[in-house]
Amino acid sequence: MLAVIGGSGLAQLGNLEVRRRKRARTPYGKPSGALAFGCIADCDVVFLARHGDGHSVAPHEVNYRANLWALKDAGAGEVVAVAAVGAIRRDLEPGALLLPHQVIDYTWGRRSSYFEGPGTPLKHIDFTEPYSRELRSRLLSAALACGEQMLDGGVYAATQGPRLETAAEIDRLERDGADVVGMTGMPEAALARELSLQYAAITVVANYAAGRGDSRRAVPLERIGAVLEEAMGRVRNIIDRLCRQ
Ligand code: HPA
Repeated sequence: MLAVIGGSGLAQLGNLEVRRRKRARTPYGKPSGALAFGCIADCDVVFLARHGDGHSVAPHEVNYRANLWALKDAGAGEVVAVAAVGAIRRDLEPGALLLPHQVIDYTWGRRSSYFEGPGTPLKHIDFTEPYSRELRSRLLSAALACGEQMLDGGVYAATQGPRLETAAEIDRLERDGADVVGMTGMPEAALARELSLQYAAITVVANYAAGRGDSRRAVPLERIGAVLEEAMGRVRNIIDRLCRQ
């Protein structure tokens, strides 16, 4: 089964015929919202809105451990995460889709492992390649097959939020080699790896990052909704195609 985690702008998957909803409980607490089960073509899909059904859970307050655990427990083997980002790299524009191949984690204070706490044995995971090579390649083929442009590769910087960054912070992320910046990519990717879930993220550029493009003086937050709404239509096409190939 394919799991889809929807971020800002993707609170539901319009092309998913929902057959059942479940409010899951996990040893790590409650996920962000109900799991929605259904089908796209012949593919079983479970969908979860990362920020909850009413978009009320902030990036640093998301219970990432409960979310991934609930999806795994429901029978998911792979996860396509969708996440809004700001563009750091100069050739990226609002509306662009990018499939990162690497991540740098700047978050702090989040519960970021299942292997912690009394009585839990310590385990290290390999995270050299944080995203599933195989799932990335299938997503790229799906995008190609349905004629949607999605850039292959990039470095995702995961920041703590919920505030946006300063221009100097974005300059630093750029010097670090980051192409896009978002607030939810970690620890989600690492937890998926701990659970042996194949995980890839479709990032959707919502805005130029602070200090760049038309965000030179301030990020125009009022425009983000419309950008994401249009772009999520293309993301749905790609997921639809993924389920048909
Ligand atoms: N920064 C961090 N996260 C984001 C941004 C941004 O500019 N845009 C959308 N998510």
